Order: sequence, then structure tokens, then C-alpha cells
Amino acid sequence: MRQVAPPRTYRVKSFGCQMNVYDGERMGELLAERGLSVAPEGEDADLVVLNTCHIREKAAEKVYSDIGRLRREDGSSPLIAVAGCVAQAEGDEIMARAPSVSMVVGPQAYHRLPEMLDRATKGERATDTDMPADAKFAALPPRGKGGRRSGPTAFLTVQEGCDKFCTYCVVPYTRGAEISRPYADLIDEAARLVDAGAREITLLGQNVNAWTGEDSKGRALGLDGLIRELAKLPDLQRIRYTTSHPNDMTEGLIAAHGEVGKLMPYLHLPVQAGSDRVLKAMNRSHTVESYLKVLERVRTARPDIALSGDFIVGFPGETEAEFAETLSLIDAVGYAAAFSFKYSPRPGTPAATMEGQVAMEVMDDRLQRLQAALSRDSLAFNRASVGKTCDILVERKGRHPGQWIGKSPWLQSVHFEGESRFGEIVTVDLAEAGPNSLAGRLVERAPA
Ligand code: SAH
Ligand code: SF4
Ligand code: F3S
Repeated sequence: MRQVAPPRTYRVKSFGCQMNVYDGERMGELLAERGLSVAPEGEDADLVVLNTCHIREKAAEKVYSDIGRLRREDGSSPLIAVAGCVAQAEGDEIMARAPSVSMVVGPQAYHRLPEMLDRATKGERATDTDMPADAKFAALPPRGKGGRRSGPTAFLTVQEGCDKFCTYCVVPYTRGAEISRPYADLIDEAARLVDAGAREITLLGQNVNAWTGEDSKGRALGLDGLIRELAKLPDLQRIRYTTSHPNDMTEGLIAAHGEVGKLMPYLHLPVQAGSDRVLKAMNRSHTVESYLKVLERVRTARPDIALSGDFIVGFPGETEAEFAETLSLIDAVGYAAAFSFKYSPRPGTPAATMEGQVAMEVMDDRLQRLQAALSRDSLAFNRASVGKTCDILVERKGRHPGQWIGKSPWLQSVHFEGESRFGEIVTVDLAEAGPNSLAGRLVERAPA
């Protein structure tokens, strides 16, 4: 590769989960520290970071087509870095297949992006998919450095990696073993985010409720302990966390839902399937019954909690009767929201070579029926909110002049018209409901 001028502008494109969004922001901060600025909308960037996701099929193919699309009319390309989970899983292939890529960096190594960039401008290509435990966070610049502002809602990765090894999933391979970030670092990062303007923080982890730490007196803490401490930050109004594993819903965390007012009444607790045989083949290590028991306890602690889940249809060997059990589970729970996917065989995972791979037409049909049931329930949940008065955290402007969009405590998108500003909490009467959002009427603004 030839030498290039040091880049002045960058663009980070993140795909996949919220942890990738968080990583994308942190990479942006690293580049900003190097003096790069975000490329203005509609303009080419000198450096493009594709922060990729490997969770389902075609992810890698998408990376190659994205790389192709970056080619400019004169045949040149910007500097390209491929980051994220496809970089981790297929870094060498990317380097071999895509000569315009000069950097491949895994999710645990991106703190080294600036050094890689120096080498890339000298014409050297580099791959870094090491997984040094913990090193990354310590090497990143502090949040809010140089007066960088945060939006009203911010992500904070508290836990990374996964030791659960569900048989369909690539995450344990792409993100590595479970690690919890130290308590003091998290309190510090949260305080900085709040100082920079955040009013809501969502704590992130592949298994966020497996987070453990120690307070300054050496006492062991779980996620609930961290949440209780964060709730003491005066300007922080709302706390959320995602994604949780059913087996890590501790008594303390469940109790926190009833006791910590700033902890929002929303729980995303993936179940994947409603058949114990399928759950076992997935290595989920919970049953339908144990999952429902957890939900019951959470609902006892916080009766108005909104529940959400993830579902996979067409796991190898799933029969029509087993799929029907998933529909029954959905009927029993009444989810406020959910994500659902067709099973996608991932190279290197045990399920990919299991017998009884389900035909695409069958998966299409099951997904359609599943999603019909889920959208019926989310519409019912939203309709049941009509007539309530609730607090909305204002996040952005709507499409129409004078329109604002924010979130209810139950993570519903609510739009309303009137005077407002970002980051403000306003009182709104919920007036109309659709499956994905609600319309409200502004009642009052909190005193500034
Ligand atoms: N750690 C979280 C989420 C991981 S990935 C958890 O355990 O719930 C997010 C979702 O993607 C999963 O919950 C699952 O529903 C889906 N998923 C993961 N691997 C998949 C695969 N191979 N095919 C289809 N969906 C998958
Ligand atoms: Fe994947 Fe299972 Fe770990 Fe979630 S718990 S990240 S689905 S292996
Ligand atoms: Fe995708 Fe990696 Fe997240 S595979 S879902 S970006 S952990």
C-alpha cells in the first residue's frame, strides 16, 4: 500500500448491538483526541471505520459490499478500518480479500487504533485481534474530555464477553470471556457522562446482570449495587440496563426494580424459545418454567414493568409443536416489545452442524406468525397506556415543525407538540397508540 496524508476527517459506522454503538463512540473519541473531526454529513471522510456485527448470516458479505461502496469515482478509497465482531472472527480473510482495507481491529483491541492509523498512513496494513483482558478501557481517554457533550441518553459498557456458550451464538468467540469493569471506573465514567449532559444511562453488557465488583470498602457488589450507587448522582434521572440472562437475575436486582425510583420499569430478558427440549439443545440452561418464575418475581417487585425478549425460530430440530410452545409462552407473558430472528447457522458454533436444519420457507412462516403475535401484544401494551399521564425524556426533534420525540419510562417512543428542549423531562398525556409509538399532549415542563 502507498503512503497517504494523515486523515483529517472520520466516520464510524456501527452495526449490531448497543455495545457496538458504545465502542463506535469510544473509537470516535480516540480519533478526536488525535485531532480528527467527524466528516460533515454528505461529505466523504478521509477515514471510515466499519464497526461490524457477526451475529447472523450475511454479516461478512455486507462488510465486503460496504467496502466496495466506499470506492470513489476516481477509483481511490478512503483509509478503511474494519472493527467489531466480523473483524474478530474473519480478520485474516478480510485482509486477504479486500486490499483497500488497511486496518482490522477486534472489539478488545480498538484502543490501539491510533497506532494502527500511524502505520496505515505509512502504507502498512495491520491486524490486531488480541484480547487483552481489561487493557482497553484503561487506555481510552476519559469521557467528556475536551468538553465533548453527551446526548440526553448515553450507553455505558459495564460488562463484556460471555461464558454461556449458547450453541447457536458467536458472541463468546468474538467478544471473549466475561469481564466486569471495576466499580470505581464506572462511577467515574457515569459522573462524567452526566456532567457532559446525559440524563439517562443504559448500562450495557452481553450479560450485564452478571456484572460483579467491589465498592471502596472491598464489599462485593452485584449489578443492583452499582445501580443503587449511580442513582445517587443528582442529575441522572433514569437508569436502564441490557442485556440480561435469566439465570443471572439475582434477588437483589429484582428487589432494586421495586426500590430504586430511577431504575426504569423495563426489562429485556431474552428467552429464545418456549420448548424445554429446544432450550436444552440451545444450551440456554434455563427452562420455560424457571424463566416464567423470574418474570413473576420481577412483576411482584414492580407490577407495571414492561417486558421484552429475544426469540429465535427454526433452531435445528424445532418441530411445529415446539414452535407452538413458543407462541404459548408469548401469550402467557404479554411482551411490551421483542426482537425475533430466523435461526442463522454460524460457522464454528455447535448448532451449525446439528441435524435437522429447518428449511427457509418453514422459518419464514414461523417468523411471520411469531411476529404477528408479538406486534399484537405490543399494540395492546401501548393501547393500555392511553389515558395515562407520564414523564417523557425528550431525545430529539420529530419530523414536523414543533414536534418532539422522547421515551416513556417503559421505553415507548412518544411524540408530542409544543415548547421543549433535549434532555428535559416533560409531563405528557398519552393520547393515541400504534404498535411502535404513541402520540401525547404536553401537560407541563419541569422547572428549568
Ligand atoms: N447476550 C444476549 C444477546 C446476544 S445476541 C442474550 O443472551 O440474550 C442478541 C440476540 O441475537 C440473541 O438473543 C438471539 O435471539 C439472537 N441470535 C444470536 N445468535 C443467533 C443466530 N445464530 N441466529 C439467529 N439469531 C441469533
Ligand atoms: Fe450468545 Fe447465549 Fe452469550 Fe447471549 S448468553 S451472548 S445468546 S452465548
Ligand atoms: Fe453483533 Fe458482536 Fe454485538 S456479533 S450483536 S456486534 S457482540
